[in-house]
Amino acid sequence: MEEIKKKIMLSGIQPSGDLHLGNYLGAVKNWGARAEEFDCYYFMADLHTLTVRQDPKMLRRRSLEQLAQYIACGIDPEKNVLFLQSHVHEHAELGWILNCYTMFGELSRMTQFKDKCAKNADNINGGLFTYPSLMAADILLYQADYVPVGEDQRQHCELTRDIAVRFNNIYGETFKVPEAYVPKAGARVMGLGNPTSKMSKSDPNGCVFLMEKPEDIARKFKRAITDSDTENCVRFDQANKPGVSNLMNIYSAVTGKSFEEIEKEFAGCGYGVFKPAVGDAVIETLRPIREEATRLLNDKAYLCSVYTEGAQKASFIARKTLRKVYKKVGLVEKPF
Ligand code: TRP
Repeated sequence: MEEIKKKIMLSGIQPSGDLHLGNYLGAVKNWGARAEEFDCYYFMADLHTLTVRQDPKMLRRRSLEQLAQYIACGIDPEKNVLFLQSHVHEHAELGWILNCYTMFGELSRMTQFKDKCAKNADNINGGLFTYPSLMAADILLYQADYVPVGEDQRQHCELTRDIAVRFNNIYGETFKVPEAYVPKAGARVMGLGNPTSKMSKSDPNGCVFLMEKPEDIARKFKRAITDSDTENCVRFDQANKPGVSNLMNIYSAVTGKSFEEIEKEFAGCGYGVFKPAVGDAVIETLRPIREEATRLLNDKAYLCSVYTEGAQKASFIARKTLRKVYKKVGLVEKPF
């Protein structure tokens, strides 16, 4: 029987912060299953992270911690290619070439660049500006079909397509023109301290991290903002009860129960019963992930074998594309 070639999916993750419940329930939880349908590449975008000043020790530690956490969340290294961006030097090399096919005007229009300039006024470096051409290289090296990204990265994916088309028009078919893949939304988790904005690490009290201790998680849920209505009743009402609705959303995502079932389960109970119950359910969901991630982090040799093998597999593909590009633009073939 003829083997059907799977489509290629690729995404980069910046190791700049710890994963939290919003990342997990909203996205990462569903990534493991993708490997059935796609050839998946995931890498820690450590080079991109350098566009903002990093503490070297932290960056190194986070890169490995995130790798361990993604594996613990179900991204099986046997079925997915997991690696660190800086280990596959073709990214930086193609990044340079693509810089020469990306316009100053295009880069200037990137909203993320403008935002980051406003936030890092004292460090508006060249890397921040050319960030999207390195990202284009990340994607185009693997001839990716789909790039799963959040809404905030859509503009970078569009630019990647423009760069690919421009290059192909000059030199003939070289790059697959990729599509942004905005996955079916998982749960949209809001902050526990402010249920009208998304859970974010910038508000650590309202944010539950995957690696957090159970007692800290319990405390955060007990203190979660519920609504100042007088009814003290567990009922889904996004507009009038955003706090309770957010907790119901979380509880539903971790237990699989519908809102109706949850309302029944907690009928007659106030928030004082409901909030710790959500905390407990979250703790039990995160417990195996935290334990597995901790176990992996203590097994550096295993982690090293994962990213070594990942980089080898990635490089095998990346090398072919880069060789083709070098040839097309007129660089003399490397003799070794
Ligand atoms: N810019 C992406 C982000 O901040 C991370 C990233 C880097 C990426 N290279 C990529 C995502 C390639 C998808 C594909 O989220």
